[in-house]
Amino acid sequence: MKMSNLESILDTAVEAAKIGGGILRRYFDEGVSIRDKSSGGGKSYDLVSDADEESEAAIEELLRARYPGHELLGEESLQSGDASAEHLWIIDPLDGTNNFAHRIEHFAVSIGYYQSGVAMAGAVFNPVTDDWYTATRGGGAFRNGKPVSVSPVTTLGQAMIGCGFYYDRGEMMRSTLAAIEECFSHDIHGIRRFGTASLDLCMVGCGKLDAFFEYQLSPWDFGAGALFLTEAGGTITDAKGDPLPIKKSSVLATNSALHASMQEIVAKHA
Ligand code: IPD
Ligand code: CA
Ligand code: CA
Repeated sequence: MKMSNLESILDTAVEAAKIGGGILRRYFDEGVSIRDKSSGGGKSYDLVSDADEESEAAIEELLRARYPGHELLGEESLQSGDASAEHLWIIDPLDGTNNFAHRIEHFAVSIGYYQSGVAMAGAVFNPVTDDWYTATRGGGAFRNGKPVSVSPVTTLGQAMIGCGFYYDRGEMMRSTLAAIEECFSHDIHGIRRFGTASLDLCMVGCGKLDAFFEYQLSPWDFGAGALFLTEAGGTITDAKGDPLPIKKSSVLATNSALHASMQEIVAKHA
């Protein structure tokens, strides 16, 4: 794809994220009721609100008008989108719903564009801090228009590591805690759990975190952030070191230098 076409795709992603972000911002300021996504009445921590749904609907409207032939895959009403489509948009209309629900200003809209399975453009937008993370394939990664790159850290003993917990509180949580414990045995500087996977990946891309892992994420969580990270010089794979599929997957994202050592830890507890 020509760079000029890619730039207009990115412009559309930014425009859509701005619209979605405006909706999130309004609900965040005015208040919105949060619902539990579980249908069976069991315990669930998977939340949703009118903000998630309205943001996705507005993003969908813009993308369908602009690119009628393109496929959309998103967390709310767009889960049946065909991930193998030649032109695919991957949308998380509100990443970090739990932060949003608890009035923590750390959530985002995430929009990625994939061509035949390859990430080509992405935008992640925090509408409260007004931070933009954008990338195009081969064009670099930018935070608020300024180029960024991953950290130069080469040993776990210098590392700040981000992680995430899937909503599951069983086996996967125990795996995550075991991996965290092993990270600490390497005298890392610290562990952080910020609660918005798209922003976690961007934080690795910006060199704030040196690595990030989570044992289960969905494509809308990492669709845009994965490109941002690799364009910033990072590496992203699943826990085994295989390329990320466009479906639920474990995720390991690093500044590249730490990938092998982090993968050893993360794979052991997967
Ligand atoms: C969640 C966030 C969180 C991650 C969860 C995701 P949501 O997305 O990205 O950081 O730990 O696994 O599901 O539900 O807030 O869109
Ligand atoms: Ca998400
Ligand atoms: Ca979401």
